[in-house]
Amino acid sequence: MDDNLKQKKRIILLGVTGSIAAHRALDLIRLLKTENYDVKVVATENALHFLPKETAEVFSGNTVETSAYGLGPQVSHVEWAQEASAILIAPASADFIAKMALGLADDLLSTICLAASSRILFAPAMEERMYDHPATKTHLSILKSWNIREIPPEAGSLASGRSGVGRMAGIDSIFSALQEAVRQDTHEIKDLLGKTVLISAGPTYEPIDPVRFIGNRSSGKMGYALAESAIRRGANVTLISGPVALPPPHGANIVYAETAREMQEKLFHHFPSADILIMAAAISDYTTKNSFSQKKKKDGKDWLLHLEENPDILFSLAKARRPGQTIMGFAAETALVKKELQDKLLRKGVDLLAANNISETGSGFGSDNNTILLIDQDGLLSEEKSGAKKDLADWLINKILLHRTRALQNRND
Ligand code: CTP
Repeated sequence: MDDNLKQKKRIILLGVTGSIAAHRALDLIRLLKTENYDVKVVATENALHFLPKETAEVFSGNTVETSAYGLGPQVSHVEWAQEASAILIAPASADFIAKMALGLADDLLSTICLAASSRILFAPAMEERMYDHPATKTHLSILKSWNIREIPPEAGSLASGRSGVGRMAGIDSIFSALQEAVRQDTHEIKDLLGKTVLISAGPTYEPIDPVRFIGNRSSGKMGYALAESAIRRGANVTLISGPVALPPPHGANIVYAETAREMQEKLFHHFPSADILIMAAAISDYTTKNSFSQKKKKDGKDWLLHLEENPDILFSLAKARRPGQTIMGFAAETALVKKELQDKLLRKGVDLLAANNISETGSGFGSDNNTILLIDQDGLLSEEKSGAKKDLADWLINKILLHRTRALQNRND
């Protein structure tokens, strides 16, 4: 469906599952309707033990659906999954959370979640022991890794009469999390629409012989997070990826490259049509002078490898740039010294340089988190930010867009 249409219609698909908190979905429906959302309710069979179906239909103005059968030829679960501005599961039972994490699709709601392209949020509601169980924790972390957002439960009295954490979050908290998600999506859809973003990610492998190579510890997570963020914000994304163990981001034009030379060739091919270049790849500075075509056997002697410098791809891309292109480089350092970083930025000829300290524990290569020091060409910007690579990706793209706006203003002055 056309994204603008999706925005205008403001459809929320409210999934209700089997928990005593299901009756509170009525308050949610009323609040969403007051805020001019069109609310479509899909309930599981068990939810209907707690949710008064007819009341939910009167409040929402739509029929409450439970089964994929009998929806008629016009409505399929795929359409339902895609037309919503967001899918909110409230309450989400332990059973339903497990289903989503396992990718099961044995009723209408779980099928919709599996086919969804809209953002999914869920508000768990269950006994504290169930919430704390390792199975639930594992399922929650799987959903988190897929960017399915949890609205955490609160402490309070539970259905069993005990007290603990497991009560569904308050209606206001759920509503503001939902609004934030819809607002972010709307914002993201607009700001890179029509732009082409070229991103490099991951390590390079320089061959020694058919078995061995020189590589590095880059996981590609930062570059892939940048690609995902740019796609969500409407960009046309080409991702030049070194060898990594990550699934290709949905919607990216992915091009694999193994060596620095291959990466150079692919980047130069795609660079002329790019508006923005982000070089997050950890490109090997050195390659073997001559690689062996057969496996080198050991012979009881020392083995000296002759290495030569690889071309500096970023430097030559920046030299070949045309007006209007914005370039962000990365710097993997073991210590962040501002003066050295500023020199590197100027040497490479980039607009922005995102430096990370790879020796810090809990950030850098392989980690889901990072700490980045971002500087710009004029020395005006020097900001440090820590967080999940996904959030840092959004932040870096915000900074690129800000830089482009400023550059445009300067050109017009
Ligand atoms: N880079 C590149 N070509 C290379 C090496 C690095 O295009 N042969 C790019 C990286 O993708 C990154 C930036 O240059 O965006 C900085 O990489 P980094 O390894 O920090 O810098 P180097 O140029 O290798 O400098 P040094 O290792 O001496 O600090």
